[in-house]
Amino acid sequence: MSEANTKKATLKLNGQEIELPIYSGTLGPDVIDVKDVLASGHFTFDPGFMATASCESKITYIDGNAGILLHRGYPIDQLATKTDYLETCYLLLNGELPTPEQKKEFDSQVRNHTMVHDQVSRFFNGFRRDAHPMAIMVGVVGALSAFYHNNLDLDDVNHREITAIRLIAKVPTLAAWSYKYTVGQPFIYPRNDLDYAENFLHMMFATPADRDYKVNPILAKAMDRIFTLHADHEQNASTSTVRLAGSTGANPYACISAGIAALWGPAHGGANEAVLKMLDEIGSVENVAPFMEKVKTKEVKLMGFGHRVYKNFDPRAKVMKETCDEVLGALGINDPQLELAMELERIALSDEYFIKRNLYPNVDFYSGIILKAIGIPTSMFTVIFALARTIGWITHWLEMQSTAHKIGRPRQLYTGETQRDIQR
Ligand code: SDX
Repeated sequence: MSEANTKKATLKLNGQEIELPIYSGTLGPDVIDVKDVLASGHFTFDPGFMATASCESKITYIDGNAGILLHRGYPIDQLATKTDYLETCYLLLNGELPTPEQKKEFDSQVRNHTMVHDQVSRFFNGFRRDAHPMAIMVGVVGALSAFYHNNLDLDDVNHREITAIRLIAKVPTLAAWSYKYTVGQPFIYPRNDLDYAENFLHMMFATPADRDYKVNPILAKAMDRIFTLHADHEQNASTSTVRLAGSTGANPYACISAGIAALWGPAHGGANEAVLKMLDEIGSVENVAPFMEKVKTKEVKLMGFGHRVYKNFDPRAKVMKETCDEVLGALGINDPQLELAMELERIALSDEYFIKRNLYPNVDFYSGIILKAIGIPTSMFTVIFALARTIGWITHWLEMQSTAHKIGRPRQLYTGETQRDIQR
């Protein structure tokens, strides 16, 4: 924030005047530092954090009105089409895109940490085979901390950095295994000769019976781009969860597990799975009109639409739709659900109910159609989101750990019983 802080807001309260400092960032709205409101015996009140900046950050910038998303200053559409996911991971972690040598070294570091301790594979047996893969991921990622006791000194930058590499590298292995476990197939181990997305798809779909299984490069490229589009998104609910857990000094594996749990909700990362269920329920274009009426009476939500920040197109949704067309075209797939989704979008974008509420497609609206084309089952959609967002979560965790921070501890407006005594 700007050091020469001269701007102030004045709060007039009960005859008092409280001067509140105003800080400016490099982009976006100024912020009002409200901590001195406490001295007046008041709390600020902002359920859902509609107008609250929880921290200072240099990682990602979103302009919701203009539909802009920048990672370390680079627009998401350029990152999604001109870099691969690991380059975006390097950028988020280090602030700059890697040189060819840095890329080679980072890629090698990740490749050489994709294995997990063989005891980890035993955790899966505690789950029923019909467990939701997200339930498995919450458990198994959190349990990783049990294997790295010697590298969890949060004050040691080397421990923090190796933890980031371990999580980026091992989450895809655990994600693929959470799928294999639910379909009763043996785990496929990571391979150091495959690229990141290719390795993940190989672990997802190869079997011991098919030694020559090869990942379709079109699908690997689409998978990699989907990872990039989900990498980070400022202080969203799951990232804020990771930051809040991290503010207590909890170990990073537990913090990422908390982020996975928060992402699971249908209002957040679980929306991609909910979009496909919604398309299944609507069934055909003929049923769109009655469905939209149910949306307007608030019986249902149009999943994959709307966003707390974007009051314009989510720039990720645009790239996702282009990728959708590319992948389905390249594979010669004519998916009726794509036509259905496009009809829903067409109607919503011309309907006063949605226009008035600034409801546009978000990142989750088209992603499921591509994931389905890749062969990913619906139950794995949010796991894919969690896999891709791990870099965002760990980057925010690192940013917080490397700067002075206090434990996050919000207050409340209490409207319960006043003090009373037990009458016995
Ligand atoms: C993600 O925060 C992030 O950055 C998240 C994310 C990321 O990358 O981390 O971008 C990923 O979570 C994307 C969002 C995925 N969720 C969905 O697609 C679920 C459907 N969308 C919503 O539930 C909703 O739009 C939210 C949760 C995304 C945003 O909710 P807000 O900001 O709290 O807005 P709101 O619920 O107050 O809605 C404002 C109005 C309401 O109507 P009124 O009360 O004014 O009459 O818009 C309506 C809502 O009923 N509305 C919808 C709607 N979303 C909002 N109506 C129908 N369908 C919808 N999808």
